[in-house]
Amino acid sequence: MEQLKNSTLVGKHIVLGMTGGIAAYKAAELCRALVKAGATVQVVMTEAATQFMTSVTMQALSGREVFTSQWDSKASTDGTGNAISNNMAHINLTRGADAVLIAPASADFMAKLLHGRADDLLSLLCLAKPAEVPLILAPAMNMEMWAHPATRRNVAQLKADGAFVLDVGNGDQACGEVGDGRMLEFDEILQDLVAHFTPKLLAGKRALITAGPTYEAIDPVRGITNLSSGKMGYAIAQAMRDAGCEVTLVAGRTALGFPRGIKTIPVISANDMLAAVQTNVDNADIFIATAAVADWRPTNAASQKIKKDGSDKNGEGTAPTMSFVENTDILATVAKSARASSGKLYCVGFAAESENLEAHAKAKRERKGVPLLVGNIGPATFGMDDNALLLVDANGTTELPRASKTQLARQLVLEIAKRLK
Ligand code: CTP
Repeated sequence: MEQLKNSTLVGKHIVLGMTGGIAAYKAAELCRALVKAGATVQVVMTEAATQFMTSVTMQALSGREVFTSQWDSKASTDGTGNAISNNMAHINLTRGADAVLIAPASADFMAKLLHGRADDLLSLLCLAKPAEVPLILAPAMNMEMWAHPATRRNVAQLKADGAFVLDVGNGDQACGEVGDGRMLEFDEILQDLVAHFTPKLLAGKRALITAGPTYEAIDPVRGITNLSSGKMGYAIAQAMRDAGCEVTLVAGRTALGFPRGIKTIPVISANDMLAAVQTNVDNADIFIATAAVADWRPTNAASQKIKKDGSDKNGEGTAPTMSFVENTDILATVAKSARASSGKLYCVGFAAESENLEAHAKAKRERKGVPLLVGNIGPATFGMDDNALLLVDANGTTELPRASKTQLARQLVLEIAKRLK
């Protein structure tokens, strides 16, 4: 739901087409989320869709009358808000729209679109929409239908005809089978829509990003870690992907699900993170180190659980002593590499401080040898959905005031793109 707070969808007019499928219930949530995100939504339902959801529900959620038939003579409103009474909803509804999004898109409806058939309002308006209004399909069907050669052919041809066909989800299906074909969840469709509307400022670039905390084992059941949730790093990875970048994410243990469309390498310790970075960094144009890497690890992790020195001593037992060694500084190591030094790899560091942000961030930028360092106050953001950033580069500082991590990530992408020019 964090995604809902971003501004990409504000003022967008979306024609939400619904066809017949169990996933129609997800379209109700999608409609609500689109409206919450600041879009206007015009719902158009096929006759089959009305078997699964009522137009009453969709009208309440969208705040607009729903169209279900090409013979419906009520005035139809275009994307600029003009209500027109010419009985041509199939023309008016897509004029001035930012996208026609079909969710769910059934196998039957996709087959129909492919042939340019137009025997109901939704297929009619898809054929009659201006070429510059994108058609985005969120397929939903049984796994065998999705895998059928006819559907594979149809998807390929629809893409060739210019439609954007979103992925399908994998998992339990309404019929009881398990496989590919479920419609994406509403927030995933929303994310894809945001990505669709995001300018591709970093097209052709490849980014390597570290995120989350590291965990340094003391013994097989205990370890040292920190409060980083990974949310800032994940938001940056998604914003970079939305901007057209090919992203690899090296992620310490977090409670977050791996982001779609991003190659994610899970790691545990700082040494694992270093190894994953070294394996992947030669392919990157941009390296962003958001991870909260443990500075030290126990010198020798015990191979078995460390036991108390005797039972029932009621706090009078002897606590173990521990020695530590410093972990390699991943960012500083990468920043010193030949590719970074020659300008082929642009490095961005983070600084998690607890006080004196500007002074510490400036000093850290020099120490790590990076062109851009992003400072934040750790205790004021670890685990939260918002943050405030201070960007430090050779020209001085830029403040990004407190906002959701999603919004800040998008702003940071703009700042990076500006500096790469
Ligand atoms: N970093 C890293 N590898 C480490 C330690 C830090 O890559 N072993 C990176 C972090 O990902 C971040 C930057 O270095 O981009 C600064 O991390 P931070 O924890 O703020 O600083 P430290 O280097 O640990 O310095 P200090 O503890 O003195 O604040």
